[in-house]
Amino acid sequence: MSESKKTCTIRENSKSGPKTLEKRGIEALQSESKCNKKKKFEWWKRSVIYQVYPRSFRDTTKNGVGDIKGITSRLPYLSSLGIGVVWLSPIFASPMADFGYDISNFTAIDPIFGTMEDFDNLLQAAHDLGLKVVMDLVPNHSSDEHEWFQKSLAKEDPYTDYYVWSNASGFDEVGNPLPPNNWISVFGGPAWKWVEGRQQFYLHQFLEKQPDLNFRNPAVQTEMQNVIKFWIDKGLDGMRIDAIKHLVEVEDLSTDEPLSGDPNVQDPNEYGYLTHPYTTNQPETLDIMRQWRILLDQYPDSKLLMAEVTYSGEEIDLVMKYYGTEEEPIADFPFNFNFIDNFHNRSDVTGFSLKFTVTEWLDNMPAGKWPNWVLGNHDQTRIATRMGKDLVEALNMMTLLLPGTPVTYYGEEIGMEDTFVSFEDSQDPSGCIWGPDRYMEFSRDPERTPMQWDNSTLAGFTDGPSSWLPVNENYVTLNVAQQEAADQSCIKNYKQLTTLRKAEVFFSGELAFPVITNEIFSYVRF
Ligand code: GLC
Repeated sequence: MSESKKTCTIRENSKSGPKTLEKRGIEALQSESKCNKKKKFEWWKRSVIYQVYPRSFRDTTKNGVGDIKGITSRLPYLSSLGIGVVWLSPIFASPMADFGYDISNFTAIDPIFGTMEDFDNLLQAAHDLGLKVVMDLVPNHSSDEHEWFQKSLAKEDPYTDYYVWSNASGFDEVGNPLPPNNWISVFGGPAWKWVEGRQQFYLHQFLEKQPDLNFRNPAVQTEMQNVIKFWIDKGLDGMRIDAIKHLVEVEDLSTDEPLSGDPNVQDPNEYGYLTHPYTTNQPETLDIMRQWRILLDQYPDSKLLMAEVTYSGEEIDLVMKYYGTEEEPIADFPFNFNFIDNFHNRSDVTGFSLKFTVTEWLDNMPAGKWPNWVLGNHDQTRIATRMGKDLVEALNMMTLLLPGTPVTYYGEEIGMEDTFVSFEDSQDPSGCIWGPDRYMEFSRDPERTPMQWDNSTLAGFTDGPSSWLPVNENYVTLNVAQQEAADQSCIKNYKQLTTLRKAEVFFSGELAFPVITNEIFSYVRF
């Protein structure tokens, strides 16, 4: 997200130095939850999670947009990679203002991706191959085209208070309504939109087309529980909770958020112009998520619950709260974005900064919980571009062999790079909003371009005449087929590592860092 594309300095751990052999026991990571008999060593602890961005994976309908059948056709490929969980970014009904993160029906498949039958077939085919499937739950907001919002606009009960509505705080000299407070949308500009019909503002922490649901309304909580049940009853293996920190806002909507004073943010329309103590991480959010955990724990098999919390490294204590406690677990893990947050350039990468990043998570994680390692996703510059092409294999190796669950973004197994996308070809609203001069600071299109399967036209992503985002020009040499055929390659390395990490030793024992210097990062598992 735009809030995270900022530079950040690594806090080096001055105590680290050459030849320190520091042991970290990870037996505790395996400890059984006392209050949940079912919780053994769950399947997701042994698995690698692979994120598919459906629009960009494989198009079977020649319209230039990836689809469900395309994903199903590549399940054998995913299985051959040795991953265990396929996480699909949203494929639900959506006007696609935010490419599926604006949902107009939480329990329907968008026709651009296929049908419910296509989804059922995908799930069955994945399960037949021993793969689990996880999808996004996007609870913070719906599309403004969702029936609930349309009925809320019309004040039709019980939908009247399904969204966060507020009266104007006053009117200016020419009669324009003034919003209740100074809140800014994550994508930029005011977070409030006036609606003539209701003579009220509604809150949108993302796009205007993504009105915030009102989780202080118990009926909304029930609706979202029903959405979870719908998909899990179909056989889904878990959910990735989107933008969870935004779920609930302070009750008193006249509360302004403080200025951040960040010298790098001069534009008052930028999210970083303010800090966000009243729109993020409210205590009620954890209570609501805890209910989702309880709901999932009623199913006989373990269901995975992952939470997207924040990219702000300063908020590590807040992030850790989303694990819950041993007695009252919440998420199986909040995503560990420290490899994204701490590394913005090749020069940020040193033995010290890597060690700091690894230990920062392990040292702050609550007792009995399980780590995870994320190198990239659909909101962030790819690792090859951010941390260096020459480091991709080493970074994959590092995350695949550390204690915990690694998360791979599609294309990272071959070292795909960001793609230049001109303003004219840009699709991502979070970039386009800023116009031709600034769109590249915020656009997420470069990391969302089509999967590079082979060196045929459009990289084997589609048999149609074009693709929704341009294919990276390097596809001719950087593609799956080429790397499969080579003696040595990123993908071959990746497969060897996923095979290696199935060994029992990777799920217990100790972790130590024998040599750490500026140039060397090393660790041992024993
Ligand atoms: C999350 C998603 C991002 C989306 C936003 C709004 O951060 O990862 O892609 O734009 O939520 O739903």
